[in-house]
Amino acid sequence: MSYRIAVLRGDGIGPEVTVEALKALAAIRERYGHDFAYEEGLVGGASIDELGVPMTDETLALCQSSDAVLFGAAGGPKWDDASTDFRPEQALFRLRKELNLFANLRPVRSYPMLDEMSPLRPEVVKGADIIFVRELTGGLYFGQPKMRWETPEGRRAVDSEDYSEQEIARVVRVACELARKRRRKVVSVDKFNALISSRLWRQVATEVGAEYPDIDLTHMLADTFAMQLIVRPTQFDVVVTTNMFGDIFTDEAAVLAGSMGMLPSASLSGLPSGRTLGLYEPIHGSAPDIAGQGIANPLASILCCALLLRYSLGLEEEARVVADAVTTVLEEGYRTSDIHSEGTSKVSTQEMGDLVAARIREPRG
Ligand code: IPM
Ligand code: MG
Repeated sequence: MSYRIAVLRGDGIGPEVTVEALKALAAIRERYGHDFAYEEGLVGGASIDELGVPMTDETLALCQSSDAVLFGAAGGPKWDDASTDFRPEQALFRLRKELNLFANLRPVRSYPMLDEMSPLRPEVVKGADIIFVRELTGGLYFGQPKMRWETPEGRRAVDSEDYSEQEIARVVRVACELARKRRRKVVSVDKFNALISSRLWRQVATEVGAEYPDIDLTHMLADTFAMQLIVRPTQFDVVVTTNMFGDIFTDEAAVLAGSMGMLPSASLSGLPSGRTLGLYEPIHGSAPDIAGQGIANPLASILCCALLLRYSLGLEEEARVVADAVTTVLEEGYRTSDIHSEGTSKVSTQEMGDLVAARIREPRG
């Protein structure tokens, strides 16, 4: 079977971690004989520098015609100048909107050997295993009106939290479908007591929940959830929430994994059926402060390949092989500097990528 994968390396540590992810895919291709055809596109600051815009229509068309998009990172201080019209992140927003990537899956789990890296106590994070489903193409990020203007009293600006019932229903369905393959629990997070849009969110989530009698769907207020997430993270299985809340809570949840460098994400344009167009991106961003030093953790990007294989190519076994190879390498004591501790072996970005690729080729045990 042949698959088309668009590769957008982007900025900062994006290119160097993507190289290691491609090694993992190469190892899968060797072991299983799949045909992965890669096509590269410029995105973010790299595209601004080269072509004058965060993303060209050609790059967008490339992504639209692919089975999946492997994305590195976009942004950096070089392009932070407030006076310019273009920001690297605009490429991400455009990709999300135009590819209709409405469901952003962010799995966060504790790895037993990394629990001590978490700022939370090991006994709190131990066993945590959550999938966040963040709505990605609506809410405050995209709602209209969205503008700033001058008034006689001074400057003003507005963003709008705007959701239609269809937008809510489809993302809650994604959460329920995922829960069916897990512990069958969905918590929908909103701010029902203060926001009208949250009242609709809760109402529609309840209706969708009724379509899934096998799923235990409950609701939690965002402020309560923020606390519960660090007090007792093991109570959560699948969490579904709005674009803005999801952005905030997934960064908070990253502390459960010990490092941002461990967390992949999948942005899907439909239910997680196995052949859904998706964009796969580590959640750590471009980390310009450590770019080019060979110390970035490529595991998030490698774990993105596992998600890509699962959700866009329908290759479940291959997905598991990639995720297991990551676990094996950690069990063997190899660590990049962000997760390094006494008694473990510190390796570079490249060495980590080579180790995982080797375990994919020749799994142990
Ligand atoms: C994320 C990021 C983006 C977002 C930024 C880079 C615009 O924080 O994917 O979580 O806010 O969506
Ligand atoms: Mg974010």
